[in-house]
Amino acid sequence: MSNEGLDIDVRELPGVGEVTARKLKEAGIYTVRELLLYSPIYLSELLNISEERAEKLVITAHDFLRERGLISDDFISAEELLEKIKRRRYITTGSRNLDNLLKGGIATQAVTEFYGEFGSGKTQLCHTLAVNVQLPESEGGLNQNAIYIDTEKTFSPSRIVEIATAKGLNPSDVLKNIIVARAYNTTHLLLLIKMLPEKIKSNNVGLVAIDSAVAPFRAEYLGRGKLAERQQLLNRLMHDLIRIAELYDAAIVITNQVQAQPDIMFGDPTKPVGGHVVAHAVTYRIYLRKAKQKGLRIASIVDSPEHPPGETLFLISEEGITDPTT
Ligand SMILES: Nc1ncnc2c1ncn2[C@@H]1O[C@H](COP(=O)(O)OP(=O)(O)OP(=O)(O)O)[C@@H](O)[C@H]1O
Ligand SMILES: [Mg+2]
Repeated sequence: MSNEGLDIDVRELPGVGEVTARKLKEAGIYTVRELLLYSPIYLSELLNISEERAEKLVITAHDFLRERGLISDDFISAEELLEKIKRRRYITTGSRNLDNLLKGGIATQAVTEFYGEFGSGKTQLCHTLAVNVQLPESEGGLNQNAIYIDTEKTFSPSRIVEIATAKGLNPSDVLKNIIVARAYNTTHLLLLIKMLPEKIKSNNVGLVAIDSAVAPFRAEYLGRGKLAERQQLLNRLMHDLIRIAELYDAAIVITNQVQAQPDIMFGDPTKPVGGHVVAHAVTYRIYLRKAKQKGLRIASIVDSPEHPPGETLFLISEEGITDPTT
């Protein structure tokens, strides 16, 4: 996929006049390609237009880019799919074990979910990746910058300094290349996600970490009565994320907690929050849990179409995520 179409103004679309163009821009949609990030239903709400009109806009944008060879067809051959996946790039986690489990590290064009109980290492992993994405490709990075969306007030610049210093990097350079946004609630989070395409483009971003993506929904949409609404919003969020990851060749990492499943008698009585919506949307899910030895963690890959089931050990140390020393 070429990057050329990224900058075609929405006004160039047939059928888009001054009024629609203004509405689109007010909603943060500037380019034809950005229009494709939205579902017609969402777009109709956002622009206060009919669903038919919104659908027509999305289809027109799609055709417009396809006619110009700026977008691949929706139906691509398995060979093309393989080609596309081959163009995926990977960010090292800092642990060779974990990289191997993930067949190369954290992939671009994908959403990777890390879930686990408190203290299992989700936040430490996000911090480490925000540093590692900046490494040169020869050292497992993408030579790009990071966006960190923090919904839990746990982003720590001093931890970034510690990790960067331990890796022999200039800490103030590393800090400059991490854009941090605090999300105060789900509405704010969804708003920040809407701004992501613009931020990714203008800041040469290769990694977006959202820590935690699901917790705010859990906190705000309590109880059975709110479940449908919550799942609908989560669904929208997840689809926006996967679309953004693919369009901008970025790696998106989200974290999630576990909730108890009181009805389970055998096996692990916990499961990630968000149910089928999150489960089906994410590309890779990794379950983190504590091992007996201090700092040691177990990562298992869950339900991946490309990875055999497996698990491995990694360590949380001063340097961030690393391999166990012995
Ligand atoms: N500087 C450090 N050096 C070594 N280990 C550290 C350091 N900072 C944190 N840790 C380890 O990381 C653990 C915390 O992990 P983290 O905050 O990533 O958990 P989490 O999965 O995000 O939990 P929560 O669900 O509460 O957000 C601590 O228990 C500690 O063992
Ligand atoms: Mg955390």
